[in-house]
Amino acid sequence: MKIKKILIKDDKKMYWQEKDMHTQYGYIKEAILKKSKNGKIKTHLGKELIVMDALFLDNLEKIKRGPAIILPKDIGLILTLTSIDKNSIVLDAGTGCGVLASFLGRFCKKVYSYERNPEFFKLAKENLKNLNIKNVILKNNDVYESIDEKNIELIVLDLPEPWKALNNVKKALKSSRYLVCYLPTINQVAELLENSKDFMHERTLELIYREWQTDITKLRPKSQIIGHTGFLVFLRKI
Ligand SMILES: C[S@@+](CC[C@H](N)C(=O)[O-])C[C@H]1O[C@@H](n2cnc3c(N)ncnc32)[C@H](O)[C@@H]1O
Repeated sequence: MKIKKILIKDDKKMYWQEKDMHTQYGYIKEAILKKSKNGKIKTHLGKELIVMDALFLDNLEKIKRGPAIILPKDIGLILTLTSIDKNSIVLDAGTGCGVLASFLGRFCKKVYSYERNPEFFKLAKENLKNLNIKNVILKNNDVYESIDEKNIELIVLDLPEPWKALNNVKKALKSSRYLVCYLPTINQVAELLENSKDFMHERTLELIYREWQTDITKLRPKSQIIGHTGFLVFLRKI
C-alpha cells in the first residue's frame, strides 16, 4: 500500500498509510492527517512532529524486500555514467525486488526487466505497482537463456555470473552502448573481464560513501558506515 505522508521527530521517520497514526509520541487521528498541510502537527499528547508528503524514496524504503538490492549510491553512478536519458530503452536482470528497475523506470522511457525466480518476479510486480511505475515490463525469464529485445541502450546485470549472458547481451545491445555489471567480489570482476574481450572495458569502480552525524556539538563521520557494497564494471559494445 502507498505511503501517503511521512512524520518526523528528531532523526526518526514514521510512515502513514491509512487509519489513525500511532507513534511512540502519541497518536494522530486519520481525519486530522487527511486535512493537515505539510509542516508541524501535534499528537494527542501535545508532542510536535513534522508532516510531509511521502515521495518516491519514502515509498521505496517500505517496499517488500527479497534478495539484496543495489543501493542508491551505486544506482546514481549507473544513471550518470551511461549517457541514458528520458528517451532510452534499457534492460536489467535480475529484477530482484525491483529497486534498480524502478529507478531506471523513472529516468528512462522503457525498461525490460528479467527475473528467473517466479517468487521474486511476483514480488517485483507488486512493488512496482505500489511505486506507481508503469513503464517497466517484467519478464519471468532467464537472461542466460535468451534476451528477446534488440537495440537496447543500456543493460545492467546484477546477478552472480554475468559472463553467461554476454552472447545474449551482444545481440540485444546497441553498438557503443553500455553493459554495466554489479558484482560483490573482485573474483567475479576478474572472471567477467577474462570473458568480455569483445567489449571495450571503460572502467571498474567502487563507490565509498560516508555519512556524517550533524549533532552540532559532535560533528563527525557516523561510526556505523556502509562498508563494501559492490564493484561496478562498465563495458561498451564495440
Ligand atoms: C541481487 S538480486 C537483484 C537486485 C536488483 N538489482 C534490485 O536492485 O532490487 C539478483 C536477482 O537475480 C536473479 N537472477 C539470478 N540469475 C538470473 C538469471 N540468469 N536470469 C534472470 N534473473 C536471475 C535472482 O533470482 C535475484 O532475484
